[in-house]
Amino acid sequence: MRQILIKGRLLLLALVFMFIASACAKEVAKPTKEERISPPQSEASTNEKIKIGFSMDTLQEERWLRDRDLFKESVEALGAEVVIMAANGDDALQISQAETLISQGVDLLILVPHNAESTATIVHKAHLAGIKVIAYDRLVKNADIDLYVSFDNEKVGEMQAKAMTKLVPKGNYVFIGGAITDNNAHLLKKGVFNVLQPLIEKGDIKIVYDQWTKDWLPANALANMQSALKANGNQIDAVIAANDATAGGVIQALMEQGLAGKVPVAGQDAELAAAQRIVEGTQSMTVYKPIKALTDEAARLAVALAKGETVGEYQKVNNGKIEVPSFLLSPIAVDQLNIDDTIIADGFHSRQDVYKLSGE
Ligand code: BGC
Repeated sequence: MRQILIKGRLLLLALVFMFIASACAKEVAKPTKEERISPPQSEASTNEKIKIGFSMDTLQEERWLRDRDLFKESVEALGAEVVIMAANGDDALQISQAETLISQGVDLLILVPHNAESTATIVHKAHLAGIKVIAYDRLVKNADIDLYVSFDNEKVGEMQAKAMTKLVPKGNYVFIGGAITDNNAHLLKKGVFNVLQPLIEKGDIKIVYDQWTKDWLPANALANMQSALKANGNQIDAVIAANDATAGGVIQALMEQGLAGKVPVAGQDAELAAAQRIVEGTQSMTVYKPIKALTDEAARLAVALAKGETVGEYQKVNNGKIEVPSFLLSPIAVDQLNIDDTIIADGFHSRQDVYKLSGE
């Protein structure tokens, strides 16, 4: 009888224990308040402030300071915030800065890659954390990038070559390319040669020098142009430089030979120094890319993607891995004739600055 009683108590105890254990398990499985109200990491709720991470390659050229400041303005105008980091052209630093932004829990990452290939690792890491990635101005190659926002860079090259072949239909051409690690440098070169190739085949144009410019540095462009001049006994009729900074190096080399203003030079970016050289006559043209249009569009798309909204259908650009939905704005060719109606009319640079006027 006593044994039966003990067994009964044990059974009762076991039953009570099982009941408590199952109640606890249910409690654990129940989502916490936090889990119930917070959306997935990449789809932040609209009443929380969206936080965008902007990983920039460099602030070396004048344009990137403008991109940085205007992008911040554009994002803030949409009620979101942005954390910006620039890597001084250092691949490893750009990757570690992006990792910092990811670990800070940004809702979306937007990226100007220094190296089109090695930054694919950033895209991968962000995706593992549930964060979408937009390539800004420069494409990231071989990665599942979510969106690409830029200008039509092939068209930039075509505009340069069209302007130059109008000025110099026949003769010896030099091509001073951009950084080989930047996809834009390749697109630009493609655009240039789309226009030049038929004229080369006709025998009207001869490419007497064609080099990339390591890291887009003007000092490297200067050295390349000095070599081009030397190798051709100064017999050069036109130069296409990948941007205004490299055009500056080219013009310095021409100046050393007393040829500045005599040999037409093309650039891009509408930097102030280039605009001044255009009115002075040492640079023939530049390609103006209205940065505000780019930052407005990039900010709009970044905030929409961060909220998990769909952003519509855009043209596709192949990056070696996927067809990237892309939004490409149109560049504008600028020379002495339309500089007032473009760069100056837009307030990109003031008339006083471009024409070096004092006290107007
Ligand atoms: C940009 C140019 C810039 C160059 C050097 C390119 O990817 O499109 O505007 O001058 O990089 O920074």
